[in-house]
Amino acid sequence: MKIESFQEYQSAYQKSVQDPASFWSDVADNFLWINRWNKVLEWDFNGPDIKWFEGGTLNITDNCLDRHLITQPDDIAYIFEPNDPEKEHVTLTYKVLHERVCRTANILKRNGVKKGDRVCIYMPMVPELTIALLACARIGAVHSVIFGGFSARSIADRINDALCKFVITADGGFRGDKQIPLKEVIDDALMGCPTVEKVMVLTHTRIPVSMLKGRDVWWEDEAKLVDSYCPSEEMNAEDPLFILYTSGSTGKPKGIVHTCGGYMVYAGYTFQNVFNYRKGEVFFCTADIGWITGHTYITYGPLLQGATTVIFEGVPTYPTPSRFWDIVERHKVNILYTAPTAIRSLMSFGTDPVKGKDLSSIRVLGSVGEPINEEAWHWFDQNIGGGNAPIVDTWWQTETGGILISPLAGITPTKPGYATLPLPGIQPVLMDEAGNEIEGNGVTGNLCIKFPWPGMLRTTYGDHERFKSTYFSAYPGYYFTGDGCLRDEDGYYRITGRVDDVINVSGHRIGTAEVENAINLHAGVVESAVVGYPHPVKGQGIYAYVIFPRIDKDAQLTRLDILQTVSRYIGAIAKPDKIVFVPGLPKTRSGKIMRRILRKIAEGDISNLGDTSTLLDPTVVQEIIKAAEAK
Ligand code: PRX
Repeated sequence: MKIESFQEYQSAYQKSVQDPASFWSDVADNFLWINRWNKVLEWDFNGPDIKWFEGGTLNITDNCLDRHLITQPDDIAYIFEPNDPEKEHVTLTYKVLHERVCRTANILKRNGVKKGDRVCIYMPMVPELTIALLACARIGAVHSVIFGGFSARSIADRINDALCKFVITADGGFRGDKQIPLKEVIDDALMGCPTVEKVMVLTHTRIPVSMLKGRDVWWEDEAKLVDSYCPSEEMNAEDPLFILYTSGSTGKPKGIVHTCGGYMVYAGYTFQNVFNYRKGEVFFCTADIGWITGHTYITYGPLLQGATTVIFEGVPTYPTPSRFWDIVERHKVNILYTAPTAIRSLMSFGTDPVKGKDLSSIRVLGSVGEPINEEAWHWFDQNIGGGNAPIVDTWWQTETGGILISPLAGITPTKPGYATLPLPGIQPVLMDEAGNEIEGNGVTGNLCIKFPWPGMLRTTYGDHERFKSTYFSAYPGYYFTGDGCLRDEDGYYRITGRVDDVINVSGHRIGTAEVENAINLHAGVVESAVVGYPHPVKGQGIYAYVIFPRIDKDAQLTRLDILQTVSRYIGAIAKPDKIVFVPGLPKTRSGKIMRRILRKIAEGDISNLGDTSTLLDPTVVQEIIKAAEAK
């Protein structure tokens, strides 16, 4: 189903609310099923228990690959843009991709991986990464991809939570002028992971790596030993397809579980309609496959629609800040999907890096991951889109599987800073403090979704209670997103940011409790409190207040020690931008830290700290302000 006009959008939306089963059944009929479903939807947000397309069986890779072999085998599925622009730009046709996925699936089987087993993937942004995901899906193994910026300990935690049996990695990865020693990090992680039996290693940077007898195998060697065809495993619609860990308000990241049938339908549907994808167009999503955006809009969504997608290994500023624009020019990119952080960072170089680049192929621009400020929106619109490429500001989450609120490119009238309107099938509501739906327009509240959609998470891995308490207990009967939201006079939605203890740093979600736990591990630290603050490029930065009574070295060195602790414990992405040493924290008599005050101080807004009289020791506030100002 492809929506081509605003009128069609409106009638599709209406139908999706009045008769969801028939709406989604029509959408799902665009895919290849082995057995058609018996029932479109069964749900209970109180359980919570959500099932889509029950009785249906399928394999997502039949839809991503096999069915295109009949109609478009020689079309390009992926264009690889390596970190070093001088290196070869390999392309993979659908036929070649199919064969490589089959071979890899056979390698997994040969090494004992079976349907339902969990496979951890820790790789650079190379085509083999998508091949690894698809190979798992081919045989019904559940992939759990971990972003290359996480530390050995974070990896071990995730592997142990999912009880992974197999790991796919590479010797290393290139990122700008840096090399990331992926295998070395995996080796460290696996010292504490008893369930892992085998590790498959891709040769990429060819830095020296340790290869353990009986455990580690080279991908290239294994590929020579297997057939080029592997039949796809028949999966139930509700079988898990993958787990992806994400941060929440509590310390431990949770494994978001997505399923085969619903996720497939939702990924394909949203890719086609949000970007208004047209056959033959080149799509470039700059996210990393380690995050949900790369799962849905580099791997599954585009392949489901037979699209051509750029996989970019490097960073936007290497070797120059023209890199994105060079890629657009070289591969004639039609749709560019990126994050506000990247836009702001490139904006800071002015328009020189864009000058002389042929960006005329661009038809649609997309933004994801964090609120986009108006200045960045206009810069993107004028300098990259030439003022005539619609911008789709897409709001969604790891949990939602795909985009929920967004303009449809070229169809929905846009407004800077607004994700605009819900896609057909999505029923957003704003809730007040008392837990009531707020009616009408020109209102703000906490964003909930009152009806299920096929791409939503089904549970948090190994802990269904946590699924319930995180998403369905703040407002019983509703899915709570954790975001604050404005619905303006036109009924347009603007996401204002997280209302829980999650910070969005460069579009990456980081839990304040996670960072605090890491800081508190440092030997001299007594206690810490972490909040977000506005950051000109990253959107939000991490601000840490730390009680460290005996700084015997110089304070700056102690800060670096703390940063190192956080890097080792979580990964470099969670390093605080600012550390302020304080004598105490603003606590209530019941021992709760008043983060509101800490946020205000971090923002530099101390004029209106509100009522501090309920604090155990109100004088501590002045001391914290003094420390923050001295920093
Ligand atoms: O706060 C919202 C913000 O990112 C959060 C979800 O993060 P994650 O699960 O890592 O997924 C990011 C990619 C989908 C949301 O709760 N967010 C995402 N997109 C937008 C956004 N905030 C404002 N506008 C957006 N377009």
